[in-house]
Amino acid sequence: MKRDMISILDFENEIDETLDLAIKLKSHIKSGKTFQPLKGKHMGMIFEKPSLRTRISFEIGFSHLGGTALYLSPSEIQMGKRESVFDVARVISRYVDIIMYRAFSNKIMCELAKFSDVPVINGLDDLEHPCQIMADFMTIKEQKGSLKGLKLVYIGDGNNVCNSLLLGSAAMGMHMTVTCPLNYEPDNEVFARAQKLGEKTGSKIKIVREPDMAVMNADVIYTDTWVSMGDEAEKEERLKVFPPFQVNKKLVANAKPDYIFLHCLPAHRNEEVTDEIIDSLNSKVFDEAENRMWAQMAVIIKLLAPDAINEL
Ligand code: CP
Ligand code: NVA
Repeated sequence: MKRDMISILDFENEIDETLDLAIKLKSHIKSGKTFQPLKGKHMGMIFEKPSLRTRISFEIGFSHLGGTALYLSPSEIQMGKRESVFDVARVISRYVDIIMYRAFSNKIMCELAKFSDVPVINGLDDLEHPCQIMADFMTIKEQKGSLKGLKLVYIGDGNNVCNSLLLGSAAMGMHMTVTCPLNYEPDNEVFARAQKLGEKTGSKIKIVREPDMAVMNADVIYTDTWVSMGDEAEKEERLKVFPPFQVNKKLVANAKPDYIFLHCLPAHRNEEVTDEIIDSLNSKVFDEAENRMWAQMAVIIKLLAPDAINEL
């Protein structure tokens, strides 16, 4: 039976072991050793939106594991336009062993996963960005040892990254506070689901309107662009509403002194975060970007070659 990763909660009870596997892979390969359980395997990477990190980290990561990856640009497949999602899924499944899909629509993401015979990994859609969150959590684990009981504060737009962070934090027993302008809240259903899951794991999931209050005693401060891919038409309006939610020196003064700053990137310097913060010693954004590769390699092994884990 094939397995997908469309939501971070598809790995709900395995996040921590996936992080440990990613950390082990990172040190193994960085010490010059190889681990190639995916020799002869092929990955199709379908992109409807631009990318730096997702494209490179998946392609290089898959080749570290012995396989080959094929990049398909936004003009190529045209999912659901040039041909139906069903037909695309049936055809691609005949060529590749696994699909990575960066999509506009979570609905189409789910359809592709439903109709394809091979695992589908969500490389970002309008609802979630689960691979990003795996890398973020790996970075937090490297820096802080564990996630349970920490306080993560997300400042800015309640977007795909925020949604996956909510579900992942709740699964891990990490507290998460979101501070955002009115009408830019995370997805309602996701928020309710995270709160409910948090009741089981001991994670407090909140929205606090005032950024200065929200950031109090934060262990992790996280922000993302105010204008996600697909929201470009709202850019002017958004740039008027979001400035009070900028991560700057004054705001982080309320966090713990050893807080870490994370951002999925690309950053819009001096919009959602000032240079001073993103370039500070507290900022771990480039470790976070690197960890995309290790975390995704761990996810891919768990989906395609779980038995190989014992050989590492
Ligand atoms: N963080 C992230 O997904 O970056 P890209 O859009 O460059 O892939
Ligand atoms: N929220 C951003 C993340 C980019 C990696 C977007 O969807 O554009």
